[in-house]
Amino acid sequence: MTHSNTDLDMLAPPAFHDRERFGHFDDSTREYVVETPYTPYPWINYLGNNDFRSLISHTGGGYQFYRDAKLRRLTRYRYNSVPRDQNGRLLYLRDDTQLWSPTWQPCQTPLDHFECRHGLGYTRFHARYADIDSNLLCFVPRDAACEIQQLTLTNGGPRRRHLQLFAGLEWCLWNAHDDANNFQRNFSTGEVLVDGGSICHLTEYRERRNHFAFFSVNSDPVGFDTDRDSFLGPYGSYQKPRAVQQGACRQTNAFGWAPAAVFQLAMTLEPGESRELVFLTGYVENEPERKWTPSGTVNLERMHQMQTRFADSNAVATAFAAVQHHWEGYLDHCTVQTEEPRLDRLANIWAPYQCAVTHQLSRSASLFESGVSRGMGFRDSNQDLLGIVGTQPDQARQRILDLAAVQFRDGGAYHQYQPLTKQGNADIGGGFNDDPLWLILSTGAYLKETGDSGILHEAVPFADESPGLGTTLFDHLRASFQHVVDNLGPHGLPLIGRADWNDCLNLNCFSSNPDEAFQTTDIREQGVAESLMIAGLFLFVAPDYQHMCRLVDRDDLAAAAGAHRNAITAAVDKHGWDGRWFLRAYRHDGGKVGSSENREGQIFIESQAWCVMAGVGHKDGRAERALDSVRALLTCEHGVVLVYPAYTQYDPALGEISSYPPGYKENGAVFCHTNPWIVIAETMLGRGEHAFQTFCKTAPTWRESQAKRHKTEPYVYAQMIAGKEAAVPGEAKNSWLTGTAAWSYHALTHYILGVRPDYDGLRIDPCIPPSWPGFEVTRRFRGTEYHIKVHNPNHVTKGVARMTVNGTELDGNLLPPGGVGDSVQVVVTMGHVG
Ligand code: GLC
Ligand code: GLC
Repeated sequence: MTHSNTDLDMLAPPAFHDRERFGHFDDSTREYVVETPYTPYPWINYLGNNDFRSLISHTGGGYQFYRDAKLRRLTRYRYNSVPRDQNGRLLYLRDDTQLWSPTWQPCQTPLDHFECRHGLGYTRFHARYADIDSNLLCFVPRDAACEIQQLTLTNGGPRRRHLQLFAGLEWCLWNAHDDANNFQRNFSTGEVLVDGGSICHLTEYRERRNHFAFFSVNSDPVGFDTDRDSFLGPYGSYQKPRAVQQGACRQTNAFGWAPAAVFQLAMTLEPGESRELVFLTGYVENEPERKWTPSGTVNLERMHQMQTRFADSNAVATAFAAVQHHWEGYLDHCTVQTEEPRLDRLANIWAPYQCAVTHQLSRSASLFESGVSRGMGFRDSNQDLLGIVGTQPDQARQRILDLAAVQFRDGGAYHQYQPLTKQGNADIGGGFNDDPLWLILSTGAYLKETGDSGILHEAVPFADESPGLGTTLFDHLRASFQHVVDNLGPHGLPLIGRADWNDCLNLNCFSSNPDEAFQTTDIREQGVAESLMIAGLFLFVAPDYQHMCRLVDRDDLAAAAGAHRNAITAAVDKHGWDGRWFLRAYRHDGGKVGSSENREGQIFIESQAWCVMAGVGHKDGRAERALDSVRALLTCEHGVVLVYPAYTQYDPALGEISSYPPGYKENGAVFCHTNPWIVIAETMLGRGEHAFQTFCKTAPTWRESQAKRHKTEPYVYAQMIAGKEAAVPGEAKNSWLTGTAAWSYHALTHYILGVRPDYDGLRIDPCIPPSWPGFEVTRRFRGTEYHIKVHNPNHVTKGVARMTVNGTELDGNLLPPGGVGDSVQVVVTMGHVG
């Protein structure tokens, strides 16, 4: 007899079983409230500013890093550990008879009350056990490299209590990859320094590091440990450390092995009395000449400054208010009011929040991305920009220039770069032929939002050329466009290279060795496989590129681009249509991928989405047919799967896609990133009902009602949801760091609600279910705040019949930027046009 995952959950307590969901949204505080520690998976939040970042789970797990999760990891986290998610923020409370953790982990003592509130840039825990209330607030100030943990303990019982508190963490030896590998060295390098209420992690500070980390408390500890194993005891565990059980730390100093930082604090609480403590986990960098004091000791000045700053609760409150203020300002950029609360909380809170996180971290650090492998992805980060060009235009500008700098003269690009160094990752290199085009997409989105065409003239060298040649961003965009034109295959369609957007369709790399990566295996057979997805993407961004050519007075290039557009459109028409949908690709041997002629993998989502988004087949019915086929063959209860039927056997000529069991990942999961493309394509055909139905299937605020099945956080998108052919359909994986966030937010705001920046103004072009009576959007655009009220009296799905701006009727549906005051009232009446 076989058991599914869900059978194993039988061992979990009733708090797990009796539920479909494990918390609720609190829209008034913009929080997700986790009501029990027994969620199907650790549900995390991100704290941080541009430099200092924390992952924090609903039971206090996670870790901190400074800028780069690989090269500057402060605290140690064991991925895929047993028990799950145990090391993170360590807090233990005990009296003579009881031992518990205010975040439930690591003790796992069942608490009388538990609540974790994940908010914007902070997480709060409230627990009650044995008449002691604990409130813990964790956040990272906007302007300091530390995480603050403010813990308030209150005696809610009738008698005086003597409590011992142990608080700590385990240091990571900086390079998180080495930390998990290089034990012959690591076990000898660890060094710490205890300075009253601070424990400094000094490993490698003596030599080449100009930085150290610290853990501190604003109170006098009665004891400490910095040697982890002394704290835990022989064969001890975080669940029941020896020091905690015995009620005494041993004042150990770590030399090598595993350095940690634990404080022991003692307190007496009268009935009703509260005690507040502030812990900091911080990072300090000293210039080489400031590393040491004149007497040769470590220069702790910056640490002391930080500690002094946050020593009292007023300062903590001020720093926390600044975090809240930051996020309010961020979210104010665009707010939406519809009839549907699930839509509003997604559009107004969670989707833009997730966009900020994906923009910051790309695919580096989550509970599924270990922070040591991928850095910033070229295609990923360009797409992530769609989610933040409006809210963070300055950061978007910088990111575009950083990305362009890892591009080669021939238009290709390093597929990834490391955020700390901003250098391209040579191990992976380039050769992903969709990569260059995403730079056109992101720059176009930035220009439409800001109108800042000056960016096109910014100097950015190519990665394989010396600086100082006067190369501009526009030269990069030109190279991007040209890269496709220069790399066409036998059918006149774009060559796919190592892979296009679908990393796992490796049609030129034939791997039979399990010890190598599918993508970086040698390209063989001249690499002539071609991609309809790239063709569609090319045709989608081509008008943007032409517009940019005109912005830099190169009408000649715009005209030439028009000719290439026509040629590729003709190639798609001639070789890209399979009868009921668009083909996906041509293999190295000219065979078709994504055709009704195939036994498996007959239809793929990407080429339907991109060809329709690019306008192919709109006039002759092919676009509608393609999307009807998507609905018939790819759409299921949990979203639109990537391919159908999924591959059942590994085929080296297809690559990694066929390595996954059917229904998972690229092999037929709902690969959520692609779903908003279908949403956009549907709106382009005016099919508002279909667009919205598709949108809701993957939207976290809808999926929350089946949180148990979904498994990962119900407030953010996951990369994939197991598809209809999977063993457990509907189960999500790889939450948080996914391009789904940016694309879904973009599809919702720009195409369903249809408030869409364009080069010459703000276009209002909704495409909604006909039942909607209307909706409202307030949005900033180039310095003006637009209050847009959309009415749908005739229950149409698309079409703006009338639009007034501050009472004056306007022709068409484009709001010209600026010039009409700081705040503009727009009234839109939908209806049949003309
Ligand atoms: C992952 C990658 C992304 C890729 C996608 C599909 O999300 O980060 O670059 O496009 O998978 O394979
Ligand atoms: C993407 C895919 C994943 C693949 C990886 C390789 O993340 O989703 O399946 O293993 O790319 O780069």
